[in-house]
Amino acid sequence: MSSSKIDLRSTLITAGPTREPVDAVRYLSNRSSGLMGIALAIESARRGRPTTLLAGPISVEVPSMEGLSTHRFETTAELLALLETHFPQCMMLVMAAAVADFIPRRLSRGKASRLNGVKTVHLEPAPDLLKTMAGMRTPGQRLIGFALEHADQLTQRATAKMVRKGIDAIVANPMETMESDNTSAALLLADGTALQAEPNIPKTAFAHWLWDELEREFTA
Ligand code: CTP
Repeated sequence: MSSSKIDLRSTLITAGPTREPVDAVRYLSNRSSGLMGIALAIESARRGRPTTLLAGPISVEVPSMEGLSTHRFETTAELLALLETHFPQCMMLVMAAAVADFIPRRLSRGKASRLNGVKTVHLEPAPDLLKTMAGMRTPGQRLIGFALEHADQLTQRATAKMVRKGIDAIVANPMETMESDNTSAALLLADGTALQAEPNIPKTAFAHWLWDELEREFTA
């Protein structure tokens, strides 16, 4: 689909962790409440932007509101399939999901038993979904990532990630804000600009700030 047919305000947001099965009952996942992605989706829909939310397994309630449609994923492969379906119809992708970095080779189709002794779980690198989407982009589509890093190397590592993935901006989050209701994050742009939000604010307030900045930088 060409970008001329896309609603200029359409937004795709991912939230929460992926889960990768080790066997029928066990999985490998990331610590993520999904709060940030949900707050961004609510704020996007509240601003009248047609919003699609891709939500992983989270305990936060996903709101039902006008302008917001939600699809659920569990594995990285399911999230990739949803992104391939929805990204071509959106102008902006905000990738707040905590996607797996490693995918385990399954131990068993059923439930692996401890009676069979020590098990080794082989981990294979997961595909980089954001980089894959950046490779599919059509003119005008914008991609924004998230990076969670230790505070002392936050800007440097987040910037390297933005460049490596070929995206337009990245939200640099200190590791300490993981699963917290508050955050102290900055928005780094590909041209080197760093925009700092007020420190230690609720994720809902940060979502408001971030949308103000994204609309100023990237939308007509
Ligand atoms: N991401 C992705 N696909 C992955 C892992 C992460 O698209 N397999 C996205 C996340 O949603 C986030 C951004 O990439 O927006 C940064 O994620 P992060 O896990 O911090 O970076 P990685 O690419 O996994 O790099 P590293 O392993 O060095 O931390």
